Amino acid sequence: MKPLSQFCRAFLPAALCLFSAACSETVTAQVPANHPGAALYTTYCTGCHGVNLHQSGSGGSLLARNLKHGDSREEIHRSIADGIPKMGMPAYGETLSTRQLNDLVEYIAVSRSGDVEALQQTKTVGKVRSHDRIETLDYNVQVDVWIDGLSTPWAVTFLDANTALVTEKRGTLRLVENGKLHPKPVEGTPEVTDGGQGGLLEVAPDPDHGTNGWIYLSYSHRLSNNKAMTRVVRGRIQNHRWTNEQVLFEAPHSTYLNTRHHYGSRFVFDDEKYLYFAIGDRGRQDNAQSVRLPNGKIHRVTRDGNIPVDNPFAGQKAALPSVFSFGHRNPQGLSIHPVTGEIWSSEHGPRGGDELNIIRRGVNYGWPVISYGINYNGSIITRERELPGMEQPVWFWRPSTGVCAIEFYTGSEFPYWQNHLLVAGLASRDLRLLTIEGGRVLHEEVILQGLGRVRDVSNGPDGAIYVALNSPDEILRLSSAGEAIR
Ligand code: HEC
Repeated sequence: MKPLSQFCRAFLPAALCLFSAACSETVTAQVPANHPGAALYTTYCTGCHGVNLHQSGSGGSLLARNLKHGDSREEIHRSIADGIPKMGMPAYGETLSTRQLNDLVEYIAVSRSGDVEALQQTKTVGKVRSHDRIETLDYNVQVDVWIDGLSTPWAVTFLDANTALVTEKRGTLRLVENGKLHPKPVEGTPEVTDGGQGGLLEVAPDPDHGTNGWIYLSYSHRLSNNKAMTRVVRGRIQNHRWTNEQVLFEAPHSTYLNTRHHYGSRFVFDDEKYLYFAIGDRGRQDNAQSVRLPNGKIHRVTRDGNIPVDNPFAGQKAALPSVFSFGHRNPQGLSIHPVTGEIWSSEHGPRGGDELNIIRRGVNYGWPVISYGINYNGSIITRERELPGMEQPVWFWRPSTGVCAIEFYTGSEFPYWQNHLLVAGLASRDLRLLTIEGGRVLHEEVILQGLGRVRDVSNGPDGAIYVALNSPDEILRLSSAGEAIR
């Protein structure tokens, strides 16, 4: 990665460099989010020093060229441990452990120097291993490996108190009964193309699964011409076989693409039991703005694959009638707010532009015309962040976490977390907990970090939280080991 000064010069005159927001973005993009100090910083410091050490807040930037209270590690340590009472900087010497203080000092010092390699070398410091207990603000959390021996699990869902299903990206559906993985995949599931980001993706039971047995799957479906698109089916499992399959959504074959990324996916059912699913832009960003095309959309169909009469574009001749909202990049998380019934979606964005959105009928979410992110290689996608007729995200992540699944917590194991949003991060390798009220994010806490890429997160019937990790490929179970001292 280019050093900061070089990066700045590439975009901006030197005089602007220290102060410009565009320049600051390049500073933050160099700070890996998986350093243990990063999580502490997010928890304790963002309110006054900004999410990435540099935005304005009462404490000012910690990336400024000269720190008023001293630049050396010793002096930074002293600022944090003793605080600066007359300025309103709290003292953390009594509430944080020595290791936590050191992690914070290291995170700040290395972020200031822009020396990413040094941070990466220290990323195993403070790494959580399974069977560990971790401290969060509200609970001590017991972390256990629930299922291992999997191949890139993509989704985990529960059918009842004792039965779960897990999709593996390579195209296999796995059954878990009483915490034991059935040694053989379910037979007869659809053939997938698992190149790139494709494969067997989401799985969810019908809202009336107990009486009708339906299970819904999404996957990347390939035609004989090698082009692919996300497809949605439902079926039942009988004698460990996938049966009665019905295709609920198949895009016109003319819209299939040779690309192998941004398949989106995830399912939710609303209170009318309509099925919502997301398809990413498939690497054709401009397609997201056309309601004639399936990609870059959230779709809505009835459970048997028909079009609800009030779908927003159902009456337009050229539109794809399943489209419910548009202007999306790669939504990979959907969850219904347990109280308001709103549909929340996470969207894996460009660099610095991962988003959290509330999905409303017929609304344009702006990709790629507006975005808070830039391309991963540093080039500009758009300079527009807001425009009339395009919805703003509720929240965005900078640096990007590689946001994946989201799930509102509804269990009884962690009562303080009721209706909080759990958010999976692939690149950040973390699980976050967002406090949400009145459609706004009030607080974000990293509750699990450094164990693997977090692909999916699910409420268990027992109130525990189930987390699907990639590398290592396993499913964790998070349970309460008692309340933290608050
Ligand atoms: C309630 C607001 C608040 C919080 C929370 C807070 N700070 Fe500060 N911080 C301040 C203020 C105010 C200053 C003094 C700024 C000044 O002197 O102008 C400061 C100064 C500092 C300095 C010295 C900066 C300099 O210019 O010399 C460091 C280092 C620092 N804070 C780190 C942290 C860290 C790390 C955390 C989280 C553990 C944190 N702060 C949390 C308000 C806060």
